[in-house]
Amino acid sequence: MSELNKVALKILENGKGILAADESTGTMTKRLESVKVKSTAENRIKFRETLFTAKGMSECIGGVILYDETIKQKTNAGKEVPKLLSEMGSIAGIKVDTGAKQLAGSPNEKITEGLDGLRDRLKEYSNLGAQFTKWRGVYNISKEYPSRLSIHSNAHALARYAALVQECDMVPIVEPEVLMDGDHSADDCFKKTSEVIKKCFEELLLHKVDLTGVILKPNMILAGSESNNQISNEETAKLTVKCLKESVPSEVPGIAFLSGGQSEVQATENLNLINKFNDTNFIMSYSYGRALQQSALKHWAKDISDVEGTQAVFDHRAKMCTLAAQGKWSKDIENN
Ligand code: 13P
Repeated sequence: MSELNKVALKILENGKGILAADESTGTMTKRLESVKVKSTAENRIKFRETLFTAKGMSECIGGVILYDETIKQKTNAGKEVPKLLSEMGSIAGIKVDTGAKQLAGSPNEKITEGLDGLRDRLKEYSNLGAQFTKWRGVYNISKEYPSRLSIHSNAHALARYAALVQECDMVPIVEPEVLMDGDHSADDCFKKTSEVIKKCFEELLLHKVDLTGVILKPNMILAGSESNNQISNEETAKLTVKCLKESVPSEVPGIAFLSGGQSEVQATENLNLINKFNDTNFIMSYSYGRALQQSALKHWAKDISDVEGTQAVFDHRAKMCTLAAQGKWSKDIENN
């Protein structure tokens, strides 16, 4: 078993999942302003430190994806963030892409940037204690999108990124996110997501990436958020498992879903059903941002000194997600 494979399995062992706390300063500012908290560096670390020191961290969270600012910050208690995470039994990860920009040749689509100078940045992050990384490609669905150009160029960038990350002995999270915005059907989401994921693995293999040391972070199969033909959670789970079974090579050890704008409970219930229907060898867990943090953030915003109360909200959410990653979640447990 390779070292990278061990790290990937460690992050996702026993129903543990990933906390995606890697919002850029711009995104974090939007999140904080939405709950009327001023977005200062101090408040950003304060909220994150509140989550990172919660009981649910050590019980449920195998890895935390950080943003450049956070991995270099000290907590209010004076500790380096990767050190704190390691003491909590969790592994530090880092978002290394520099964001999605307009794609030349198809201006309504995006290409993710960040390859220039990446090898040096990876060394720096590894020295700071990161053991895994994230890069997000983003695709929108409509009649003509995602175009072949966007599918091809984002897969190419994801593969070049993953190869550099493994060269630096870290585990790459490969995240091709097909957005739920729009009025497309679940069937369209299934077809496009399958095409996107297959292309990613074609490029990963071409770039000689060791698939046993990769975590895939995909979207679930859903109808567009403005579609009149929503499907049931059971259908979402069945279609998601079918898509991944057909598109992901069996060497990949783990899949950690993004929540993508689903509510906390919907993201939990869908993950639970996915695990009930999972007849593959892939671990199917979570790498949620909003679906782990939304309620905790709302609670914290009412009184940012209420560490215990905020942690209780986060602990509940993390516990529900970890139960779902084992197919053991239920509505009764959720509400009691
Ligand atoms: P959400 O779970 O909020 O979609 O965030 C996950 C993520 O890291 C997106 O890149």
